[in-house]
Amino acid sequence: MSDTIGVGLIGTGYMGKCHALAWTSVKAVFGDGPRPRLRHLAEASTDLAERRAGEFGFERASGDWRQLIDDPQVDVVSITTPNAFHAEMAVAALEAGKHVWCEKPMAVHLADAERMEAAARRSGRVAILGYNYIQSPMVRQIEELIGQGAIGTVNHVRIEMDEDFMADPEAQFYWKSEASSGYGALDDFAVHPLSLIRVLIGELTRVFAQQAKPYDSRPTQGGGRRAVETFDIANVLFEVGDVSGILAVNRSAWGRKGRIALQIFGSAGSILYDQERMNELQIYRASGAAAGQGFTTVLAGPLHKPYDRFIPAPGHGLGFNDLKIIECHELLRAIRGEPARVIDFSAGLGIERIVHAMARSHRDERWVRP
Ligand SMILES: NC(=O)c1ccc[n+]([C@@H]2O[C@H](COP(=O)([O-])OP(=O)(O)OC[C@H]3O[C@@H](n4cnc5c(N)ncnc54)[C@H](O)[C@@H]3O)[C@@H](O)[C@H]2O)c1
Repeated sequence: MSDTIGVGLIGTGYMGKCHALAWTSVKAVFGDGPRPRLRHLAEASTDLAERRAGEFGFERASGDWRQLIDDPQVDVVSITTPNAFHAEMAVAALEAGKHVWCEKPMAVHLADAERMEAAARRSGRVAILGYNYIQSPMVRQIEELIGQGAIGTVNHVRIEMDEDFMADPEAQFYWKSEASSGYGALDDFAVHPLSLIRVLIGELTRVFAQQAKPYDSRPTQGGGRRAVETFDIANVLFEVGDVSGILAVNRSAWGRKGRIALQIFGSAGSILYDQERMNELQIYRASGAAAGQGFTTVLAGPLHKPYDRFIPAPGHGLGFNDLKIIECHELLRAIRGEPARVIDFSAGLGIERIVHAMARSHRDERWVRP
């Protein structure tokens, strides 16, 4: 493999900046693999593309993402545009022989996600999704603890994902309230907990879901109001074989900023984790003298890989953007043909099928098998 890899970035909003930072830092943090060259950036307009290319350090800028796909110097494409664009952009990139790092969710419609997965298979290129939370050193530690039997046999999981960016009833209508972006909290939020459940517990076998809309309309830029077309809240009962579970997601939960609260209960103990405090986990072991039993807090440090690649000292903590750097490194490992911790398009399609099963369950008011 060459010493460098040409990077293309489509979209430069919240996630676009995270991808740009990851591509800029991955070589310095991990030391191995090719050095990313920031070749081409595309945005919705040429003006914005040129401004961002200057800020992020990309060599070329386009107001038309197809020019980026046609660029022979681009080997891998980061897709960080709104959900409705993912399928068209990912399929085009794969057909042009590029590797793809696409933000979650895969696509709005299941048929599009299936097209993306088929395109990835046909291309033989690496195609992964932005499921950054599975990269957390503490989540890896939880996986290890479960594997070691530290809490016995897992029998119940409860996972909640809450933020408050849509909690204000007067917050302006934007693409996340449009049906073209998907169901709402199911596509936007539930897919993240589903990636964690997939890695830590296994594949969901049955779901029973309810979606809710806290506000019927939101103000528009022009001064009027527009009906909200998506559900900001979803509650789901689920099963992973014999393990029962509850998933609750809410984009309008005042006070919750980046909560992904995970509770895993087993026959010999429990594990708690919350993304808002991503540098610690809590474990309760039902062993020893009962009077001395209680939750122990474990702080992240260099023993929790790959924390050590960022900081040699424990207790200082990683942040959200570091998860994106780890994800970028895993993508590069996959491109080199090495074992990698990623949700590829095939695994991602499994998550999409579960989301659509949840929506069917809500519609039909019954248990559904994905
Ligand atoms: N992995 C995560 O934790 C995480 C967090 C937030 C968002 N996301 C996902 O990332 C994606 C983007 O979300 P965001 O919050 O960054 O959105 P955003 O609105 O901040 O950014 C989207 C960007 O895409 C650009 N864009 C729109 N149409 C385009 C086009 N035709 N060509 C080129 N650029 C175009 C916009 O101008 C904007 O800069 C979504 O799929 C979302 O679900 C993932």
